[in-house]
Amino acid sequence: MVTLHINGESRSYDGDPAMPLLWYLRDILALTGTKFGCGQAVCGACTVHVNGEATRSCQTAMGDLEGGSVLTIEGLSPDGSHPLQRAWRVMGVPQCGYCQTGQIMQAAALLKTTPSPTDEDIDSAMSGNICRCGTYQRIRAAIKAAAQGQV
Ligand code: FES
Ligand code: FES
Repeated sequence: MVTLHINGESRSYDGDPAMPLLWYLRDILALTGTKFGCGQAVCGACTVHVNGEATRSCQTAMGDLEGGSVLTIEGLSPDGSHPLQRAWRVMGVPQCGYCQTGQIMQAAALLKTTPSPTDEDIDSAMSGNICRCGTYQRIRAAIKAAAQGQV
């Protein structure tokens, strides 16, 4: 039995300890904001926070989450008003949108540790999050706008 918190709610999991967190979020809890991309920790689409750190949920086993605290895009803010979410909307960041949950969660982890990131900080933190639509310039601009309180 694994007990953990998901978006602040206590949960118990009694299934296969090898099952990825991403499956638990999407298939059992119906938290489908977190996306499946590569399944191999190379695209970042499945990024959530585990104990405050940006984490690839496709490669995180449920058995390793005892006592853990998971935050998904659904829990980032109660009403979609996190500064990054506001900046994403104002600046029209997404194209197809598929990668964007992971992008926002990765950026949210960056801003927690580095509230005023430089271009280099942003590029370094975001380098593992792939966008097939090439929205990288808008992502960077939106992170800066959120960090600077411009939205
Ligand atoms: S689906 Fe997890 S990193 Fe691609
Ligand atoms: S917006 Fe389409 S993959 Fe990023």
